[in-house]
Amino acid sequence: MEHLLAALRAVAEPTRLRLVVLCARGELTVTELTQILGQSQPRVSRHLKLLCAAGLLDRFREGSWVFYRLSRSSPLGALAQQLVAACGDADPAIALDLQRLAAIKRQRADIASTYFRENAARWHRIRSLYIDEREVEAALVDIIAAADPRDLLDIGTGTGRMLEILAPRVERALGIDQSREMLAVARVNLERAGLENGLVRLGDMYQLALPDASFDAVVVHQVLHYADRPEAVIAEAARVLRPSGILMLVDFAPHTLEFLRDEHAHRRLGFADSEVAQWCGAAGLDPAPPSHLIGDPLTVVIWTAQRRAGPWAAEERSEEIPLAVLEGGVR
Ligand SMILES: C[S@@+](CC[C@H](N)C(=O)[O-])C[C@H]1O[C@@H](n2cnc3c(N)ncnc32)[C@H](O)[C@@H]1O
Repeated sequence: MEHLLAALRAVAEPTRLRLVVLCARGELTVTELTQILGQSQPRVSRHLKLLCAAGLLDRFREGSWVFYRLSRSSPLGALAQQLVAACGDADPAIALDLQRLAAIKRQRADIASTYFRENAARWHRIRSLYIDEREVEAALVDIIAAADPRDLLDIGTGTGRMLEILAPRVERALGIDQSREMLAVARVNLERAGLENGLVRLGDMYQLALPDASFDAVVVHQVLHYADRPEAVIAEAARVLRPSGILMLVDFAPHTLEFLRDEHAHRRLGFADSEVAQWCGAAGLDPAPPSHLIGDPLTVVIWTAQRRAGPWAAEERSEEIPLAVLEGGVR
């Protein structure tokens, strides 16, 4: 009861209620919240600190930025949801806040689409070298439908495309990428698609800040060819899979297009089935026969592998996206 009373006391102040309403609409930085509320940053930060301490908001850091959102790590996040619903958006102060929030979201989308436009020609050129991506995506959707995972990790999520197509089929999905610009595009895409169960976080595929055995499915789509240690990426993906969890790797079959190395920073010109199978085996995964989607000149391969039973006791397995992630543990 004390927790509940503390949460109710924390939100019983106009600015703090406005902050809760705003954070229910997405992940927002202190700077954005300061712009919307028209109050000083120290003041807004103080309110945010109180709301986090009361368990109504979560805070996570991405490089030098700090984001706030309605809590998913505390049961009081559900109370915050109810308060937001009860508050509605008819109140003039709330309506103005939401108008300003919409302007900030438009601004974010513009920045993201400028970045996307600047890189789109390069990406388009690579895409024209292999089969229609929709075929690859349809194959991945089939794999997910058969495996029926509860949660999914997308390593090297980029613009969040894998999350867009796969998150609707799981309860929770998390995308990790090392590029803040890519994550900005991904956030806009997820928001546009209305995917509330999808999150993206800054992180390094060689060192995921995630516990062992915390996901049912992991996808690594068109990322491995950038890796200088692909076997380490596979081992890290295997580590975070629960026993019987499924790894989906999508990349190119061996090819000779050197320009992908010179102009697009690819380190590896595709992968042989045998080496991927060997890396999977060494990481405690049982590889299944790969599927080859033949294109000209590039062939896309989907390798899947299942996590062998691990040393974890059932109660030690993480059942949800770990709190550390939601609170900013992925750096
Ligand atoms: C070609 S994009 C693929 C994006 C996405 N998987 C897709 O298929 O649409 C490769 C992504 O891998 C990310 N990446 C490269 N090295 C990484 C690392 N060490 N840790 C996390 N992400 C990385 C890049 O930032 C980029 O967004």
